[in-house]
Amino acid sequence: MRVVSGIQPTGNLHLGNYLGAIRNWVRMQDEVSSGGGQCLFFLADLHAISMPHVPAELAANTREMVAALVACGVDPDRSILFNQAQVPQHSELQWLLNGTARMGWLNRMTQWKDKAGKNREGASIALFTYPVLQAADVLLYQATHVPVGEDQKQHLELARDIAQKFNNDFASEQAPVFTLPDPIIPPEAARIMSLRDGSAKMSKSDPSDMSRINLTDDADTIMQKVKKAKTDPEPLPSDKAGLEGRPEAANLVGIYAVLSGMTVDAVLADFGGEGFGKFKPALGDLLVSKLAPINARFIELRQDRAALDAILHQGAAKARALAVPTLERTYEALGLVRG
Ligand code: TRP
Repeated sequence: MRVVSGIQPTGNLHLGNYLGAIRNWVRMQDEVSSGGGQCLFFLADLHAISMPHVPAELAANTREMVAALVACGVDPDRSILFNQAQVPQHSELQWLLNGTARMGWLNRMTQWKDKAGKNREGASIALFTYPVLQAADVLLYQATHVPVGEDQKQHLELARDIAQKFNNDFASEQAPVFTLPDPIIPPEAARIMSLRDGSAKMSKSDPSDMSRINLTDDADTIMQKVKKAKTDPEPLPSDKAGLEGRPEAANLVGIYAVLSGMTVDAVLADFGGEGFGKFKPALGDLLVSKLAPINARFIELRQDRAALDAILHQGAAKARALAVPTLERTYEALGLVRG
């Protein structure tokens, strides 16, 4: 099993980031490395330039994301952790795959349509070819499995289409150049909502800091934010169906369930009939106990720029070594002379 996945570097990491992609990566790392497989996890910094961005922020966010990933349990000794910009083979393979990807395929990508909006003429070419770089990211390493959120499924299908067409056009059936990767979409992809509005996703861009639990929040801040979290006046229901139409209650119970590893029904079996005055302190305690170790490690690591750069540097060296053979076979298959 070869697992490859990327994440765009964003700053201000919060509970939603942790319970979404990051925790999933840690779980994969533990399963895959004990089974003799290999995980490659990277910061998609090259993808980040497809949208307007501030260079100094991109650099800071890349390092901050490494600190968060390691604090949350991604182990640079067991997984290969790196950023794309230090592995030029990603960009090289993208160019080679540009000959195989079709305009029509990219035109159908919903992320392109959403992000370009009405102003396609003004969108960057990088935004349009973003999915080809993403295909290169995984095909470069002969990935067998790619953990992604539901929203990235279409990009993974495109990667398979590109791999298939390239193999058909330029390789023999006995010796295909690329492996067709399978997406792994976590079943209970935890959608963590704002603490102030149960219908909005928890987000770094929400102007209210009370809406989210940051990885930098200390225990008092976490308890305070949970205490002030929006709720309704009813006591908790005794089963999942009773959360219907109660987005804030559903969110808090959902967070408790994910962090404790219990089902929502099991949480409600414990707390059904109780008011939030009882539930919130329990949720706060649980959050503090799970996040305190991560918080401590994160705060320490994010200020150690030398350590973060060393992690990325070593990860990139390992990634390059794995990438080169596939890249060379791709050049050769295309008839590009490399002397
Ligand atoms: N596009 C992905 C996202 O926004 C990030 C990404 C880039 C990625 N390259 C990848 C994910 C390769 C999986 C595999 O979430």
